[in-house]
Amino acid sequence: MGSPSSPRPAALPWNRSPAPFAELISVEAIAARVAELGAQLTADYAGKPDVVVIGVLKGSVIFLSDLVRHIALPCVLDFIGISSYGDASVSSGVVQITQDLSRPIEGKHVIVVEDIVDTGHTVAYLLENLATRRPASIKLCSLLHKPDRSEREVKIDYLGFTIPNKFVVGYGLDISQQYRNLPFIGFVQDP
Ligand code: IMP
Repeated sequence: MGSPSSPRPAALPWNRSPAPFAELISVEAIAARVAELGAQLTADYAGKPDVVVIGVLKGSVIFLSDLVRHIALPCVLDFIGISSYGDASVSSGVVQITQDLSRPIEGKHVIVVEDIVDTGHTVAYLLENLATRRPASIKLCSLLHKPDRSEREVKIDYLGFTIPNKFVVGYGLDISQQYRNLPFIGFVQDP
């Protein structure tokens, strides 16, 4: 059993020397920013009925899990699965829903939780699709944003961190489905 004063585990494989990933955003910085976002959402949605927090699978799952524990309001969770066609590392803008929401969102106050807005194609498609279902309101909360890669203008209502144009992993983000469980956000180091 760990205690609040326990040191972070040093022997996790991804922390071994030479580290395969350089740390971009620490565990502590993520936790502090997620708490701030949760407090902001709590203030903004206080008194609103029918709040639905929608996680975009799979990348947002860890962020969403932490975030909702800082939203001190009644809310319902739902999930939507999205995949882009084509080369997985280049967003084509052609998007497919692989798993739909479990309930209608008509009349609900929807908060879409994303891991990262890169080119913006995926989330632009998703927001357009969800808007056709006539929610009372719809806002976007993204952990990360890479503005240098932007191809579609997307309004991010709640943003964790702006990051440089690097491919990042951890805290839900993957390379070929791996490293989502990295507790910090890292990037692949140049050899
Ligand atoms: P977009 O359509 O280009 O904005 O891409 C959005 C999706 O691409 C995200 O939801 C991620 O799944 C993936 N993605 C974009 N950049 C990264 C990255 O740096 N690391 C991991 N996944 C990424």
